[in-house]
Amino acid sequence: GAAELGPYRHYMQKEIFEQPRAIGDTIEGVLCIVPELFDGVSADGKAGAAAWRVFQEIDNVLILACGTSYYSGCVAKYWLEGLAGIPCQVEVASEYRYRTSVPNPRTLVVTISQSGETADTLAALRHAQSLGMTHTLTVCNVATSAMVRECELAYITRAGVEIGVASTKAFTTQLAGLFLLTLALAQSKGRLSEEQEARYLTAMRHLPVALQAVLALEPQLISWAGEFAQRENALFLGRGIHYPIALEGALKLKEISYIHAEAYPAGELKHGPLALVTSAMPVVTVAPNDELLEKLKSNMQEVRARGGVLYVLADADTHIESAEGMHVIRMPENYGALSPILHVVPLQLLAYHTACARGTDVDKPRNLAKSVTVE
Ligand code: G6P
Repeated sequence: GAAELGPYRHYMQKEIFEQPRAIGDTIEGVLCIVPELFDGVSADGKAGAAAWRVFQEIDNVLILACGTSYYSGCVAKYWLEGLAGIPCQVEVASEYRYRTSVPNPRTLVVTISQSGETADTLAALRHAQSLGMTHTLTVCNVATSAMVRECELAYITRAGVEIGVASTKAFTTQLAGLFLLTLALAQSKGRLSEEQEARYLTAMRHLPVALQAVLALEPQLISWAGEFAQRENALFLGRGIHYPIALEGALKLKEISYIHAEAYPAGELKHGPLALVTSAMPVVTVAPNDELLEKLKSNMQEVRARGGVLYVLADADTHIESAEGMHVIRMPENYGALSPILHVVPLQLLAYHTACARGTDVDKPRNLAKSVTVE
């Protein structure tokens, strides 16, 4: 009821603003079951030891999930391959369960699910198990769910109850859990020095503070939302690890504002979507200051040259300035490997405020369910 909402208009807004707390709790919760990453202190030594044994027996990862949880898996692939050197496939659960694939007993099957009850994800897990893959881990927000019961290992996210159908805090806490999984796997394979580990853990523990600074950008996103609310289409561009963030930004916008939105890896622009770019097509660009920034800038020029209007989420230290047809919001700090966790937040706020401006039922969008427990 209204009392629970406090100062917020909808559960989605409340849940967006809960993210610093949710991520802080998730980090401490997961670190307790991976004692090797937590100065040897363990709240649940059994789970930690079991995880360690499993990690020795696997050499690749298969992630299975649906919806927003699938996109967190897509981000994790960049971490697992880039930081831990572990081959990783990510597959939509409803596709995996119905195709003939090549099972590998040295695969760690990772399911990601807010509810732990999504029918397709559970069926995909059981399918993998029936193919002889016994090592399973779930990143899940509900400790009592079927998913947690049926997996060998569990990293429980501590988002708390998520009521808005469009997932927000569940997504970012999944990312936090998946980053810790990456560190644990990297360490088990001897691919993480103590110094690197300490640096990553410090960055993780600073996330709640970094997120507060991103949430403070809300007034600027309200102003962008006023423009988006008048459009029927939007394009989201990202590169590398931020491509799944562009996908998630487009999903949020279509789910709750009913604006048709598509995401593309920016390098693919010239292979099709550029044909759609006009002044009526806002183009959101996720532009962190990484090794792909210069390439992204030339993709942005391609949009500008066709009269497209850019909405850019730029990092603190990029020299991208607002100009005619180019609206820039500057992110408070450059967050390196963890940058996707920060960059998704303004996209959540943009979708939320666009939906509010259009007067849709934000917490219960038409035709969608919070948890899809039938096929
Ligand atoms: C539904 C929800 C999404 C969610 C997806 C997967 O479609 O509306 O927000 O991402 O299911 O749910 P899960 O509980 O498995 O993460």
